[in-house]
Amino acid sequence: MGMNKTDVAMLKTKNLGGTKLADEILGEVKKKVVTLTEVPHLAIIFVGENEPSKIFIRMKQNACKKTGIKNTLFKFNEGTKESEVLDLIKKLNEDAGVHGILVQLPIPNMDENKIFNSISPVKDVDGLTPKNIGNLLLGNEIIVPATVAAIAELLRSTNVDLKGKEVVIINRSNLIGKPLSMVLIKKSATVTLCHTKTKDIAKHTKQADIVITATGKPNFLVGRMIKKGSIVIDAGSARYKDKTCGDVNFNSVYKRTSLITPVPGGVGPLTVAFTIKNLLRCYELQHR
Ligand SMILES: NC(=O)c1ccc[n+]([C@@H]2O[C@H](COP(=O)([O-])OP(=O)(O)OC[C@H]3O[C@@H](n4cnc5c(N)ncnc54)[C@H](OP(=O)(O)O)[C@@H]3O)[C@@H](O)[C@H]2O)c1
Repeated sequence: MGMNKTDVAMLKTKNLGGTKLADEILGEVKKKVVTLTEVPHLAIIFVGENEPSKIFIRMKQNACKKTGIKNTLFKFNEGTKESEVLDLIKKLNEDAGVHGILVQLPIPNMDENKIFNSISPVKDVDGLTPKNIGNLLLGNEIIVPATVAAIAELLRSTNVDLKGKEVVIINRSNLIGKPLSMVLIKKSATVTLCHTKTKDIAKHTKQADIVITATGKPNFLVGRMIKKGSIVIDAGSARYKDKTCGDVNFNSVYKRTSLITPVPGGVGPLTVAFTIKNLLRCYELQHR
């Protein structure tokens, strides 16, 4: 089903984009970087050949370039021993010339918890070490995972008061659903997490003022699943028919929403910007 002129006009007023906000954040980072005594340095660890990961890494490297930040990519083949990655992390933890360590997910055939546990919390650009996640749980936001910060920023930009709002998150991962629920609970939203074992997802999403979806399944969320006037944030990212797309069946959903994030151009660019901002935060934690 295509869009007519009215649809396109309506879409412009409903568009909750992330690109402009991302540019603003990167602009602030760039200004800050020139005032620092050292050039901040990000180490990126990538294991395997996951195609979406390659795109995300390229976006992060471009953002480093734009803001005057140094980055080094450490690439491992799939099948590399976990101990090799752990050894590298140990060296990077001890290297005062490295300010942030980013392990690109997914990490095939390795124990993710063990890998994140080995990263120094002050170099934890992704905010996924037990210490940083624990602090988030306690309401102490030292380093917030970038996708979570991106979604929180998009919601902040709408000026909608989250107090008492029904928010449904379709994702319960350590990267998105769990930490995001902590941040939104702190803002007094009523949060429900859905996942593959949830009996009737539409029952929950139809009640929601805000739906945040991150399943990675194209066309997962359709119009009949959401309440009229709700806000929809699509953090999913997958390749479908040779294009990057999110979870939302856009044509059916946007007609019912008051605001909706596009994919690409929504959560993605803001996540990259917050990753870079988190590196500056790490730099500051190490120079206190
Ligand atoms: N835009 C960005 O910047 C950004 C950043 C990071 C990740 N992402 C994207 O976000 C998505 C999720 O990433 P992740 O690391 O959290 O992945 P993940 O660990 O695989 O989590 C996916 C979540 O979605 C749920 N899910 C999957 N299929 C479902 C279905 N049919 N019905 C209900 N729930 C379903 C899973 O439920 P179970 O727990 O029951 O399996 C799980 O909780 C991916 O598409 C990823 O590419 C985007």
